[in-house]
Amino acid sequence: MSPIEIIKAVGLGHRYEKEDEGEFWALREINLSIKRGEFVAILGPNGSGKSTLAKHFNALLLPTCGELYVNGLDTKDENNHWQIRQSAGMVFQNPDNQIVATTVEEDVAFGPENLGLPASEIRQRVDEALTIVGMSAYKKHAPHLLSGGQKQRVAIAGVLAMRPQCLILDEPTAMLDPRGRREVLETVTRLNKEEGITVILITHFMEEAVAADRIVILENGSIALIGTPQEIFPRVNELQALGLAAPPIAELVNELRLAGVDLPPSILTVDELVEQLCC
Ligand SMILES: Nc1ncnc2c1ncn2[C@@H]1O[C@H](COP(=O)(O)OP(=O)(O)O)[C@@H](O)[C@H]1O
Ligand SMILES: [Mg+2]
Repeated sequence: MSPIEIIKAVGLGHRYEKEDEGEFWALREINLSIKRGEFVAILGPNGSGKSTLAKHFNALLLPTCGELYVNGLDTKDENNHWQIRQSAGMVFQNPDNQIVATTVEEDVAFGPENLGLPASEIRQRVDEALTIVGMSAYKKHAPHLLSGGQKQRVAIAGVLAMRPQCLILDEPTAMLDPRGRREVLETVTRLNKEEGITVILITHFMEEAVAADRIVILENGSIALIGTPQEIFPRVNELQALGLAAPPIAELVNELRLAGVDLPPSILTVDELVEQLCC
């Protein structure tokens, strides 16, 4: 495995045993390499296998067949699990399920405390993590009284305090209002761009994937499409066939092109569109 890869799936398959239906393959033949420092968005309809894949990235689930490596470590080897979970931190959908303490700072300290770190190191990590997510002012607050977006930023700080190389977020904005979604997305983008943390963002909001370096689209447990946002989003019809809508700007550009307006298909932002139309 190349040192630039942080996650590599080779022929990864996952089978669940369903009580009523017998065996069910939730993932099939997944081949995927994620580079250090990359921002990858994983999209796909409900039930396409996104959460199952995410759980393989930090050894919460193990391959039924094929292999999954994190930092070159095979998740099948239990001796690697501690190190893998240190490298790849997870943030889940429901912020309320992730709160474990009665103040924000205690909540963020929970992970590092479990690592058995000295108190001074814990304090430093907590302060740093809360600064990065912009929640320092809320240190002494009760987490359950915060807004949804603030709670998710605290959850992200809790994972950051473990100093992971890779952050995996499984629909972290699904339960948030538009403002909370924006806060979380801005935080995640900044972590990737400024702190160099590898980000894997699972989302069903297409516009959140515009900021990613690469997009992976799952369908029935297989990779249906993979590429940069500029490569994927202009494929409006294929996305529709997968039950996904392209971001509004990509759809508008598609309509304009169909109506005969001369525009490049790869436009993804209002600014790019304005620039093209005004030139
Ligand atoms: N613990 C489980 N036992 C049996 N089937 C499961 C389990 N978890 C998920 N599945 C099934 O696997 C498929 C993929 O689920 P999931 O990975 O949660 O998809 P997504 O996150 O894309 O919605 C679904 O059909 C789901 O019903
Ligand atoms: Mg899911």
